[in-house]
Amino acid sequence: MRYDFIFITAALACLLTGMSMGIWMGIAHDFTLSPVHAHLNLLGWVTLALYGLIHRAYPALGQSRAALPQCVLAIATSLTMPAGIALSILAQQPIVAIVASIFLLIATATFATMFVRRARATA
Ligand code: HEM
Repeated sequence: MRYDFIFITAALACLLTGMSMGIWMGIAHDFTLSPVHAHLNLLGWVTLALYGLIHRAYPALGQSRAALPQCVLAIATSLTMPAGIALSILAQQPIVAIVASIFLLIATATFATMFVRRARATA
């Protein structure tokens, strides 16, 4: 599976959405949802793009059995976390953000484990 391509495509989709949101916030002079914009850009664009570039630099990571679930979880939580923050701000419902943040941490810990175990195989 081309994890580099999948991650970078997902990251670019987040960047386009995050930038559009930033332009909308600026035009509307409404910054209520700026933490949503920030998390969509930083988790969605920056973090997912880095995962993609790291997969590109260390192809052995893609051979890990954890690679597919990590990819699905990382992309899903990068979307549900900003959605959860929006729910928290607009409806005082923090549960989605809380659950998403825990799964986000699991996705990150899984990637860290994959990296430590597999990266040395790529000289
Ligand atoms: C078209 C591109 C972008 C536009 C028009 C835009 C616009 C904005 C606006 C209007 C704010 C709110 C400022 C305020 O509260 O006073 C903001 C905040 C922020 N933006 Fe962007 N932005 C863009 C791209 C990005 C990117 C690419 C990133 C990160 C990679 C980013 C990260 C942030 C962060 C961290 C904040 C602070 C959020 C907070 O204080 O809660 N932005 N942006």
